[in-house]
Amino acid sequence: METVFDSEEAAKFVGLSLDDFQQRVTTLKVPGLKAGEFKKSVLSKYFEINQSEGFDSNVIAISNQKGGEGKTTISLYLAEALSENHKVLLIDWDPQANATQLFLNDDVTSIMDYLGYRGKKPRDIEPLIKTVATNFDLLPSTLELANLTTPYERDDFELLKEAILPLRSNYEYIIIDCPPSLGLILENALICADYILVPIQTRAFSLQGIRDLYETIQKIQRKANQRLKLLGAVLNQFEGQKALAGLAEGVKKYFPVFETVIQRRESIPQAQAKMSFLSKIDLATMKNFRELAIEVKEKINVQKN
Ligand SMILES: Nc1ncnc2c1ncn2[C@@H]1O[C@H](COP(=O)(O)OP(=O)(O)OP(=O)(O)O)[C@@H](O)[C@H]1O
Ligand SMILES: [Mg+2]
Repeated sequence: METVFDSEEAAKFVGLSLDDFQQRVTTLKVPGLKAGEFKKSVLSKYFEINQSEGFDSNVIAISNQKGGEGKTTISLYLAEALSENHKVLLIDWDPQANATQLFLNDDVTSIMDYLGYRGKKPRDIEPLIKTVATNFDLLPSTLELANLTTPYERDDFELLKEAILPLRSNYEYIIIDCPPSLGLILENALICADYILVPIQTRAFSLQGIRDLYETIQKIQRKANQRLKLLGAVLNQFEGQKALAGLAEGVKKYFPVFETVIQRRESIPQAQAKMSFLSKIDLATMKNFRELAIEVKEKINVQKN
């Protein structure tokens, strides 16, 4: 039987006064809040007593510091495919705000006013979240995110991680669309994430870029986020290249490669130009992303067990 604490015992367990504990539990929306009973394992996750325990939600960073590899495309349609069966949050974590502009064209409030950057007081980001379809929520981005450049204190690496803690229990999958750069924005994403997925477009690709990303991931795993696990690389814009075997071999030196490859399809830029969901434009291509979603779920299950 799992150990269950009442509020007083729980406060002692996490090393806080009862007042501070209750405040933290409310802001973080720790499961158990309503019944006033807290499972030891849940407290361990939310108060980081044992970093090796996973959350019930899975945070996946889609990242590659090179531009145009398919990060936003895979973020969008992996999120769409997962939302057919699960509650999903897509975080647009790129100042270009490409994903945001597909859904929202009115004024978007900047997340920068909500993060505790440069000594600002962090604010609850839940009001920023927009529901764009059934089971599919979006945390939008704006150009101001580009100001997140220099870490002034250690906390500046953990702004996103802290910001989404109260939301984690609301979703099964949280997908982070990362920017094409190596820097504080990306570091925030990788410190917040449980998993990383690397899109690689197969037409013109460089192993140098892959090595740089590999080194960044290793550094984050060593120094800042032991939870971070590499799901692997997804080959994108695939056109039946004969060179695929050689290409996959090159990538495999650094990353495991997904069996599912994403085909190059004109309906993808078309869906984006029409600001439409992919399932409304091209079901065959949507199926490709459903396969990817299934493989993502399998890989996560393997990592968990
Ligand atoms: N499988 C595909 N088939 C056809 N076009 C694609 C495919 N994947 C991506 N594209 C197109 O390639 C362009 C770049 O893709 P995307 O914006 O997803 O890359 P990105 O890595 O997010 O770029 P950035 O680094 O600028 O954020 C877009 O115009 C997109 O529509
Ligand atoms: Mg992008």
